Amino acid sequence: MFQIDAASPADLEVVQGLLSEAGLPTSDLGVARPQFLVVRERKAVIGAGALQRFGAAALLRSLVVADGHRKRGLGRQIVEALEQRAAEQGVGELILLTETAADFFERAGYRLIERSRAPAAVQESAEFRSLCPSTAVCMGKVLTAAHSA
Ligand SMILES: CC(C)(COP(=O)(O)OP(=O)(O)OC[C@H]1O[C@@H](n2cnc3c(N)ncnc32)[C@H](O)[C@@H]1OP(=O)(O)O)[C@@H](O)C(=O)NCCC(=O)NCCS
Repeated sequence: MFQIDAASPADLEVVQGLLSEAGLPTSDLGVARPQFLVVRERKAVIGAGALQRFGAAALLRSLVVADGHRKRGLGRQIVEALEQRAAEQGVGELILLTETAADFFERAGYRLIERSRAPAAVQESAEFRSLCPSTAVCMGKVLTAAHSA
């Protein structure tokens, strides 16, 4: 049995460890302070994902499932929980950058977009400007009311 809920400050060290192991950026987390959700199983944090708000849009970032717990549907469930939370907060569009998981996100309804078509504020984020390599693809998904149902 696992549950997905908001990260507490005490979870962040474990989350940073998971992100580092997966090769995802952590250096801007202290400044960007994205809102993390975590997956807990028997009190252990085994996955995470975050939203970084930019007005009506948000960056979906730092999605990770611990090696050994992948391919169980957890990644998909974290994405759905982030979409629900974003829609509840009035976010209309989610944007992400990924080097390795474009197929995964495509199955979840995300579509490739030009980086230059992402909302300007999102393009100003550290993840866009410097942390994600230029080989990372940009994807987006427009949220509808159904996501907050
Ligand atoms: C990407 C990641 C979060 C997926 O987590 P997961 O829990 O294994 O994903 P799920 O089990 O929910 O997979 C859902 C579907 O996507 C598929 N899938 C998972 N990872 C995939 C990948 N990297 N590429 C293509 N398809 C993938 C699964 O086979 C599954 O397909 P199905 O629905 O047809 O069975 C995980 O592989 C991970 O932590 N990767 C390293 C970090 C990363 O790349 N994060 C994304 C950048 S923001």
